[in-house]
Amino acid sequence: MDERMVTGELQNEDSTVELSLRPTILNQYIGQKKVKDNLSIFIQAAKMREEPLDHVLLYGPPGLGKTTLAAIIANEMGVQFRSTSGPAIERSGDLAAILSSLEPGDVLFIDEVHRLPRSVEEILYPAMEDFFIDIVIGSGPSARSVQIDLPPFTLVGATTRAGLLSAPLRDRFGVLSRLEFYGTEELCDIVERTSEIFGAKITHEAAREIAGRSRGTPRIANRLLKRIRDISQVKGETEISLQTADEALDMLQVDEAGLDHIDHKLLTSIIDSFQGGPVGLDTIGATIGEESQTIEDVYEPYLLQIGFIQRTPRGRVVTPKAYQHFGIRKDDG
Ligand code: ADE
Repeated sequence: MDERMVTGELQNEDSTVELSLRPTILNQYIGQKKVKDNLSIFIQAAKMREEPLDHVLLYGPPGLGKTTLAAIIANEMGVQFRSTSGPAIERSGDLAAILSSLEPGDVLFIDEVHRLPRSVEEILYPAMEDFFIDIVIGSGPSARSVQIDLPPFTLVGATTRAGLLSAPLRDRFGVLSRLEFYGTEELCDIVERTSEIFGAKITHEAAREIAGRSRGTPRIANRLLKRIRDISQVKGETEISLQTADEALDMLQVDEAGLDHIDHKLLTSIIDSFQGGPVGLDTIGATIGEESQTIEDVYEPYLLQIGFIQRTPRGRVVTPKAYQHFGIRKDDG
């Protein structure tokens, strides 16, 4: 598979390793059964009709495998994978250059597609719908619009929440797939698969422990595994043990529920400064020094999923379950 980046950022070593960890076909991709089953049918049908796949929007919290799935779609369709991101495309000319360099059927992946500048987004509408772009040449009275035909292509867009997209852009995706947090068993399979790729042995108990403390997120599981493998190696183990996994996770400040120090800061600040809420997102952000958008997209989804916080019309509330986790009693005062 050709994984050229269309915007010329160099990849560092870590992301090269990351790429080789990624499954390349749907059958190797663990979890997200509903998304996989649907995509498998749509890919098969498009191939039978010898047409490009309809545009796909993948949405869900970060680290769940949106980029991996996009690359798999290209591979399964037998076409090139071209990858860029919303903030990397600053001017409409940048997008015009990318689109006109595509070959028929190619997959163009745009990560953070909700961050495309509005002027660029408007170029995308006719490109997605009818495979042409209108570009304006010149300026003032002599400006004229030229229409350029494009090869048919598949846009795969990724975003953390579908609601971040403008309605006209969202409406132009034929397939909308939501990625969910992974279950412990699935994450355990992913940890064992990754260990095998690393050539590192790991006990099933250790893999399960990492899985249970990875916030339902493969990217986190794989990152923790790398650090735990380092510690295990330095200890001279031939196999990553549960004890080492536990020690390492404590050292990495990941608690039994998989929460890190930012989750802790978030929850304890609502508990300590706002009596457990309700409190608005912006107020929380200002209190702990994080962007409210980051809290909403990165930290909050898992805390909502495990029932540690709730969203109410008046703001966020920490639940009794979270109080219990911290061993704090909520007094009624
Ligand atoms: N590595 C990261 N995410 C994965 C997934 N969903 N399946 C297999 N390997 C992965």
